[in-house]
Amino acid sequence: MDERMSMDGFDPLEPYTYRHPTQVAGVVWKNPVGAASGTFKLDACQDFYDVSQLGAISTKGVSPVAWEGNPTPRTAESPSGMVNAVGLQNPGVDDYLVDELPRLKDLGALVVTNVAGHSDDDYAQVVAKLADSPADMLEINVSCPNVTHGGMSAGTDPVGLERLISRLRAMTDKPMVVKLTPNVTDIAAVARAAANGGADALSLINTLVGMRLDTTTGRPIIDNVTGGVSGPAILPIALACVWKVRQALPEMPIIGMGGIASGSDALEFLYAGANAVEVGAAALVDPVAPVRIARQLDELLDQRPELAETLEKGSSWK
Ligand SMILES: Cc1cc2nc3c(=O)[nH]c(=O)nc-3n(C[C@H](O)[C@H](O)[C@H](O)COP(=O)(O)O)c2cc1C
Repeated sequence: MDERMSMDGFDPLEPYTYRHPTQVAGVVWKNPVGAASGTFKLDACQDFYDVSQLGAISTKGVSPVAWEGNPTPRTAESPSGMVNAVGLQNPGVDDYLVDELPRLKDLGALVVTNVAGHSDDDYAQVVAKLADSPADMLEINVSCPNVTHGGMSAGTDPVGLERLISRLRAMTDKPMVVKLTPNVTDIAAVARAAANGGADALSLINTLVGMRLDTTTGRPIIDNVTGGVSGPAILPIALACVWKVRQALPEMPIIGMGGIASGSDALEFLYAGANAVEVGAAALVDPVAPVRIARQLDELLDQRPELAETLEKGSSWK
């Protein structure tokens, strides 16, 4: 096991009181580490750890009706990472409202509901149904590279993005996070468009477009041909994106993610200007990774009181 993965005496089930909370758009997270959308499954994770231990849980994307996702194979390994084209498979918002969301809230989790759509109307339908739900925050996913309509295309055009976010803003008072794609020339431009539309916070980055081929057949490994790359390979790209958006929008709350596998990786994102982070692919390798990283970061913040105080106040490192 990678040395960074180990933590002396770490027991994910042991009660633990975090010393360093953060705030994202006025919402207090008990620690700055959340689970990234699409990589947390309640039924799988609740046996391994108390899910209320995480700063927040970003759910799998929720669409207006059930989506089957893409045909298999949907994943491939890649150097220091993976490629996926799951395609936002989910049971739809009505099912989410009676099943996953109440179960997460009963367990004491802080829930960021990730919203998926193929069109502006799709996003609006989901947000309308979530407006009075117990979700703590909404995360509008305009950055999925694995669906043919909506998804990433909604997050690469600043004009369309601002129009969509303004429309959703008028529908809910819930803190609204907009999840950005790195598959653009200027991420600061789309970040500004989301801010102008009324986003309360931004999350970044979603996956980068990638592919793998089978050299025995000469064919793509993933049925969808291309997918989204995640894992440690994308960490430096994600850090640069967070830093660029922080320079462009000094006051905007940012949830940073991309390749985080240790407390020290998480710390880098906080120094780049993130207010909180999320762990994705690392949890697919080791389901308790987000809790381990949260505890490693808690110890690292003990030694960095200025950063810890900045986060607790709802500010970011500048
Ligand atoms: C299998 C898989 C499914 C994902 N599903 C979603 C999703 O439904 N909505 C979303 O906004 N991001 C989704 N993502 C993107 C992650 O939340 C995250 O932004 C990205 O993987 C980068 O973080 P990581 O390198 O720690 O995985 C998914 C990622 C993976 C690997």
